[in-house]
Amino acid sequence: MILVIGGAGYIGSHLVKELVTTNEVVVLDDLSTGYRWAIDERATFMEGNLGNEADLDHIFSTYKIEAVVHFAANSLIGESVADPLKYYENNVSATLTLLKTMMKHHVKKVIFSSTAATYGIPTTDIITEDTSTHPITPYGRSKLVIEQILADFAHAYELEYVILRYFNAAGAYETAEIGERHDPETHLIPIILQHLLGEREHISVFGSDYDTEDGTCIRDYIHVTDLAHAHLLALQVLLDGKKKTATYNLGNGLGYSVKEVIKTCERVTGKKANVIMANRRAGDPARLVASSDKIYQELGWKAQFSLEQIIQSAWKWHQNSVKVTK
Ligand code: UFG
Repeated sequence: MILVIGGAGYIGSHLVKELVTTNEVVVLDDLSTGYRWAIDERATFMEGNLGNEADLDHIFSTYKIEAVVHFAANSLIGESVADPLKYYENNVSATLTLLKTMMKHHVKKVIFSSTAATYGIPTTDIITEDTSTHPITPYGRSKLVIEQILADFAHAYELEYVILRYFNAAGAYETAEIGERHDPETHLIPIILQHLLGEREHISVFGSDYDTEDGTCIRDYIHVTDLAHAHLLALQVLLDGKKKTATYNLGNGLGYSVKEVIKTCERVTGKKANVIMANRRAGDPARLVASSDKIYQELGWKAQFSLEQIIQSAWKWHQNSVKVTK
């Protein structure tokens, strides 16, 4: 049995859809940012919080958990700058409770969702896992500190882990049964598509004076299904005992500016966007682009979906989501 914490969330629910075809899965989620409809019905669902030791004790005593995949976190950079306590409580303190309870129940394998935000403002155009980590936001720091705690636990208590540092997750499941939904929505691609569906009046571009080719921020967009596949591989190597500890970037290796993403959305949907230039948003680095060579070399993972395909799947989801989520 695999425990997926945060399995009702955007990325977690995409992993669960794949994982249930080969494994028994229990999902723990407090539904604070995830949705019941997003959890595949073949998974067992427990509503609860990973910071609650009693909820965890119950799961670890009821099921024979072989490994934990830990997605549950708050993950908005701007919000973390405004409300760091929330981030340190939910991302750090609750995860510590999880790790403590895992050790108590002798569950020693975990996959941890980390982020490009651990790198801060990188000194290089293409970020490898060896690029130095100097996060500039509470969100990035909350993830980095857990990475460090995992390493300490591995050393002291034989915890085995794979850390996956996601770049910008986007896109939706191929059938459009599930996809990205945040409330309120702050992410670029869903905001553009909501606007193109007539749900928003315009798109604001946060900063057009960055030191990039067109002045807008560059990000590495990675399909959520590519992320799910990386988790399946990481889980397999942990369960097979082929890796004890590892940290990998997950990105496409290609950077797209905010303006380029808007243009691609216009091309895919055949609609024209109303775009407004706005001020910079707190905590945004100019450019975040991954090298994912390490996970390719060690596990054979490579992103399969282009930005165009990411947006096509997201567009299908956004058109379908009214039906799914009501
Ligand atoms: N942006 C706009 N207008 C909008 C929304 C976003 O211009 O209305 C810009 C942002 O300023 C940024 C880019 O689009 O430059 C992407 O922004 P998102 O909010 O979509 O994503 P972030 O890069 O802020 O963050 C995401 C995840 C984080 C993760 C990070 C890793 O939300 O959890 O990717 O790169 F850490």
